[in-house]
Amino acid sequence: MKLHDKEFELFIGEDALQSEIVALAETLNANYHDKHVVFLAVLNGAFMFASDILKRISLSCEVSFIKLASYEGLTSKGEIQKLIGLNQNLAGKHVVILEDIVDTGQTIHFLLNLIEEQNPASLEVCTLFYKPQAFKGENKPKYIGYTISNRFVVGYGLDYNELGRNSREVYQLKEEALN
Ligand code: IMP
Ligand code: MG
Repeated sequence: MKLHDKEFELFIGEDALQSEIVALAETLNANYHDKHVVFLAVLNGAFMFASDILKRISLSCEVSFIKLASYEGLTSKGEIQKLIGLNQNLAGKHVVILEDIVDTGQTIHFLLNLIEEQNPASLEVCTLFYKPQAFKGENKPKYIGYTISNRFVVGYGLDYNELGRNSREVYQLKEEALN
């Protein structure tokens, strides 16, 4: 598959992806069996993952879609992130963030700090992909679908410059394209 200037090859097919998602959902169903959960899906990337995993969740739950927006700070430099789309109070709630991929961990770090301010009863991250070699955060996500190498992936919500999100499989950047 070619997206913009790069070639990608099949990495994870639809059936494998769905089986892994069912397994993740079963773990969440077991761990939160007596709880009411607020799922926060991070746009844009997590839209497909959120949709599929939530169909397998049998818990009492709420679902919201959130986005981290950056804007120029009033101070000299540096990006300030703000959370948009969150219109309920999370105090005392069991919150699970649904992410497509945790790479350096910066995005999740901002999100966790912003949500922590609302004093949820508990707060965990459930991500479809995790890149340990790129991760610079302190705590790795508790719920992980696939632990993968640093190679760039697209499809199933993930994009390469906005292309590839609609694919039902996941593709990886071709090795020879790395150099
Ligand atoms: P982090 O803040 O470095 O953890 O990166 C998180 C964001 O970077 C993700 O939500 C994606 O939008 C993007 N990203 C990181 N790695 C990939 C990848 O392999 N494919 C597509 N997007 C990626
Ligand atoms: Mg994302």
